[in-house]
Order: sequence, then structure tokens, then C-alpha cells
Amino acid sequence: MPNRTCALVTGATGAIGEAIARGLAADDTREVVLVARNRDKAQRTVQRIQRETGNVRVRFEMADLSRGGAIRDLASRWQGPLHILVNNAAITPPRREQSAEGVELQFATNVLAYFRMIRAFTPYMPATGGAQVVNVASYWAGGLELDDLEFRRRRYNNDAAYRQSKQADRMLSTAFAQRLVDKGIRVNACHPGDVNSNLSNNLGFGGHQSPEEGADTPVWLALGGAGVNATGHYFEKRRMVPCGFSKDQDTVERLFEACEAFG
Ligand SMILES: NC(=O)c1ccc[n+]([C@@H]2O[C@H](COP(=O)([O-])OP(=O)(O)OC[C@H]3O[C@@H](n4cnc5c(N)ncnc54)[C@H](OP(=O)(O)O)[C@@H]3O)[C@@H](O)[C@H]2O)c1
Repeated sequence: MPNRTCALVTGATGAIGEAIARGLAADDTREVVLVARNRDKAQRTVQRIQRETGNVRVRFEMADLSRGGAIRDLASRWQGPLHILVNNAAITPPRREQSAEGVELQFATNVLAYFRMIRAFTPYMPATGGAQVVNVASYWAGGLELDDLEFRRRRYNNDAAYRQSKQADRMLSTAFAQRLVDKGIRVNACHPGDVNSNLSNNLGFGGHQSPEEGADTPVWLALGGAGVNATGHYFEKRRMVPCGFSKDQDTVERLFEACEAFG
């Protein structure tokens, strides 16, 4: 990677995202851009990270990631190259909700936003290679039903919708890795750690790890720790773990097409 790099981190006003942004900002030659939906929180988070790291190149951009239109706007006002994209923002609302665009909110935020951010921002990634996309997923994953991605047929349950979304994040990492390998862009997924947060509390969990522990594997991946040839894989605690979901190439492709259809 070049000396001066730029990183974009979603969900950086949350527990793990802030620690990821702080970890990336530890190199004060790096510009770190937080994507947030709450301006006050974003301002406070940027100030905290600047104070703690001494990196004045930390800033934020506003976007409601559950909306495709907001992601398109965000990308259209972006300037300059992007070297690292960390998709991390996610939610676990107890009741079924819909985005302003009428899409079930976990699917819109946890899955479509990851898909759309990669689509929108990889064109900014240098053709010289070495750029990294990190999709923060989870070991807590499964139950994906392609014919009911938005829980219209099934009764909504935030745990089931969450597990489905994290399975999808892992599968989309493989799909994008295959599509972007020729551009030298690496796309990997990981489990961060078990951290106390709004998201985990909504699922009835606490979390025994610190945000910094949760950020360790995502930051390590973002900085190329897995090696230049590592792409399309799933990691836990800095170790590659075989992902059965991603081996199902037919479902990977059908999921990619389903996301594409949302535009
Ligand atoms: N915590 C765990 O134990 C755990 C375990 C496994 C995986 N993970 C994964 O780690 C990631 C981070 O989770 P966390 O525990 O740190 O969650 P968190 O503290 O609840 O943070 C979630 C972040 O996402 C943002 N966000 C939600 N909806 C958004 C939207 N529509 N537009 C823009 N931003 C939005 C939130 O913004 P606001 O601050 O405005 O709400 C917040 O910054 C998630 O991908 C999660 O699946 C977490």
C-alpha cells in the first residue's frame, strides 16, 4: 500500500466500529473517514479518536446506510482514492421494521448496505492493487432463506434475521472477492469478538471482550495481515476458518443476484 492511505469505516459510532477506526487512525498518515447517521455522535467520536491517536486526519461523513440512495450520494461526493473499506454497521431491532425504501431493516442495513458500499466504493480503489475490503460478519450465522430474505413469509425474529444477515455477509465476501481479484482488491469477512453493545444487547447477550479485542481481527485484515493473496476467506482471531456457506457457490451467486436486484 502507498504511504498515505485512506480508510472508510461504517458503524464507527458503535462499540466495535469506533475501536476499528481508532486502530486504523493509529497511523497518523492515514485518513480515516467514519460513516455515521447521527451527527452529534459522529462529532464526539471523531474528537475522541483524534485526541487519543493524535491523528487530525480523522473525519466523518453522514449517511443512513439502510438507504441505497444515501450510499449513492455518499459515493458521488467522495474524492480521492480509497484503500480500505470496513463494512461494520449493523442492527438487530427487536421488531420487524422497514427502511425508508421499504426494505426489512436488518437486511437493508446488515446486508444490502455491505453490498452497495462495495459496489459504490471499489471504483475508487487504486488499480495498483493492495486495497482491502473487510466485512465484519460473525460466527453467529445461518438460516439464510433466499426466497424470504426480508422475513415476509417467516415470522420475524431479530436473532433469526441477524444470523441470516451474517451468513449473507460471509457469502457476499466470497462473491465480491471473485469479481475483484483481477483489480487486486482483497475482500474478506471476519468475526470480531463478543463485545457489549446495543447490537449484542438486543440479541440478549452481553459480551466478555473489549471493543479493542473486537477490533483486532478487522484491523489486522484491513492492514493486510492475512497476506496479499488472501481473499474471499472468513477469519476468527486472525485465523482463517473454513466457511461452509461460501463453498455453496450456487447459493452465493443467487444471493449476489438477489442483492443486485434491489439496485
Ligand atoms: N458485539 C458483538 O458481540 C458482535 C459479535 C459478532 C459480530 N458483531 C458485528 O460487529 C459489527 C459491529 O457491531 P457492534 O456490536 O459494535 O454494534 P453497535 O455498537 O450497536 O454499533 C452499530 C453501529 O452501526 C451503526 N448503524 C446502524 N444502522 C445504521 C444506518 N442505517 N446507517 C448508518 N449507521 C448505522 C450505528 O449507528 P448509531 O451509533 O447511530 O446507532 C453504530 O455505529 C456488526 O457488524 C456486528 O454484526 C458484533
